[in-house]
Amino acid sequence: MDGIGKRKKDHVEISLTRPVRFSNKTSGFEKWDFIHSALPELDFDQIDCSSIFYGYRLDFPFLIASMTGGFKHGETVNRTLAHIANKKKVAFALGSLRPLISNNDLLREYKSFRKICSDIPLIGNIGAVNLYREFSESFLDSLMNALQPDALAVHLNPLQEVIQPEGDTKFKGVLRNVEKLVRQFPGKIIVKETGAGIGKTVAQKLKACGVQWVDVAGAGGTSWAAVESFRKNDRQADIPFYEWGIPTCECIEQCSEIEDINLIASGGIENGLDGAKALALGAQLFSSAFPVLKAFDEKGENGVESFLSDLQLQLRRVLFLTSSKNLAELTKAKLKRID
Ligand SMILES: Cc1cc2nc3c(=O)[nH]c(=O)nc-3n(C[C@H](O)[C@H](O)[C@H](O)COP(=O)(O)O)c2cc1C
Repeated sequence: MDGIGKRKKDHVEISLTRPVRFSNKTSGFEKWDFIHSALPELDFDQIDCSSIFYGYRLDFPFLIASMTGGFKHGETVNRTLAHIANKKKVAFALGSLRPLISNNDLLREYKSFRKICSDIPLIGNIGAVNLYREFSESFLDSLMNALQPDALAVHLNPLQEVIQPEGDTKFKGVLRNVEKLVRQFPGKIIVKETGAGIGKTVAQKLKACGVQWVDVAGAGGTSWAAVESFRKNDRQADIPFYEWGIPTCECIEQCSEIEDINLIASGGIENGLDGAKALALGAQLFSSAFPVLKAFDEKGENGVESFLSDLQLQLRRVLFLTSSKNLAELTKAKLKRID
């Protein structure tokens, strides 16, 4: 297995076996409560929580976040998650496509994801720091032609790179490269973090570059400083950064003040009630990584299907109990802050 494959394998193993969830800082969902309506004036089975994302109708607005890839077990996990996503009509994001750069066999194998995700949006994933260095313009063209994803998520992960032993910290010029990418693939670029959050200032810069979708990937769920740190022997210098980042709810609140930007909420979303709060705060979609991986690790395919069914049921219950017959009616006015 090459260096990238080994690293991706470590990420999955460490995420599942080490204490890498935030322990002091939270995503902030406990600071919000829905205002209960004792008179929903709705039948539960009238409730519609479907939504449109990249032209596909999803049963509810959820995205299985980018994870894994580049090693054997990772591909199996990805493929299984993609099948389940298509069955449950939620969107699916692949993990980083970087392992495909030097591996034509893997590139050929990845073509099958488009067939698996026939009824749902398929999202590719690359690191912004690698743009136009490891990923040349022509390679990106051939990658997009081969995989035919509906969108490409570009991750900003300075915290992860600065802790990672072999991290790439050459972030000067990243914004300019994102702008170039938006010109290369108009309407197809999503920019995401990996658990340290995108706040208003960064989101405004991204919007000015033409980015239409931002996945805030805020703090409170998986700590990538901790994940990378557990790959080292000496972790002393990393420990103060384990809780670094903007909590997910703060990211959504800040970014939703910007006009004409679409938000995906992720980072510590554990259930459909968290997801509903994220939607009411201004996100169009919610997304989880670790909880999906954990469900798969503990109970296989059935575990992931149950996790997704529970998310949808919990979201529908929130709509019912706040007297909202669809997602448009689930607004911030139905939430109360509890400090
Ligand atoms: C095992 C694992 C692998 C991941 N790999 C990627 C990746 O390749 N690219 C990426 O953008 N994010 C990656 N992430 C980050 C997630 O997409 C997500 O932004 C982050 O984990 C926060 O969500 P969570 O709190 O639900 O885990 C990975 C997460 C996990 C748990």
